[in-house]
Amino acid sequence: AKQRVPFIGANWKMYLMPDQVIPYIETIKDQLPSPDQAEVMIAASPLYLWPLLDHAKGSNVIIAAENCDYHDTGAYTGEVSPKALSEMGITYSIAGHSERRHYFDEDPEIVNKKVHALLRNHINPIVCCDETLVRTETDDDVHWVVSQVIAAFKNVDASDAAKMMIAYEPRWAIGTGITASAEEAEEGCALIRQTISSIYSPALADTVRVLYGGSVTPKTVKALMAQPDIDGVLVGSASLDPNEFLKLIHY
Ligand code: G3P
Repeated sequence: AKQRVPFIGANWKMYLMPDQVIPYIETIKDQLPSPDQAEVMIAASPLYLWPLLDHAKGSNVIIAAENCDYHDTGAYTGEVSPKALSEMGITYSIAGHSERRHYFDEDPEIVNKKVHALLRNHINPIVCCDETLVRTETDDDVHWVVSQVIAAFKNVDASDAAKMMIAYEPRWAIGTGITASAEEAEEGCALIRQTISSIYSPALADTVRVLYGGSVTPKTVKALMAQPDIDGVLVGSASLDPNEFLKLIHY
């Protein structure tokens, strides 16, 4: 059996409006597993982090950022400071989500800079690695995921690497309603773990949690979580309704 604590993450993206945020957190916050059974996270827009942290106080939900800048603070108009996130009490942030990579031109080097900025500010990075639009099973696809993982961990020492999570998010499964089959998802996650093992060690790879993301629903979560290398899920669309998300949490 897996020793790693299961992780269920919501990624709200840019969907929820201000009037939805507090009712959402109030709906779920008293119905969560204890942190040793499963960790539950909500990644939200920086607009909502402060009130969310406030309302989540004393509950088992982790409030996280979806993105941030790679500078600590300074003259970077419109950006989100990782130092400020940390001082607000944020302990996790997504970095390099597929949508950041594709719509906002974040290349692997920028994602690595964000990883370092987060670690420097005591925030645990969740790095998303994607695949191309169609599952082609070509060497290129495999190479692409592996190269993103290698780039994400560049100049990260083993003690910091242990604080990170990697999410395998095939681009063809994100927001499309097409979940990868449990086998396809396992294949991607196993490849990521193997890559971590070859960068660091099998022992370290054994402790790092690898997540799957891409059209996960309450119906598909169980089979995914049963896979040996899938430690958790990162959920977009199906996390927008608090009752759906609760179903996912208690899969
Ligand atoms: O980070 C989660 C995400 O990219 C998947 O989104 O809507 O396909 O669940 P969705």
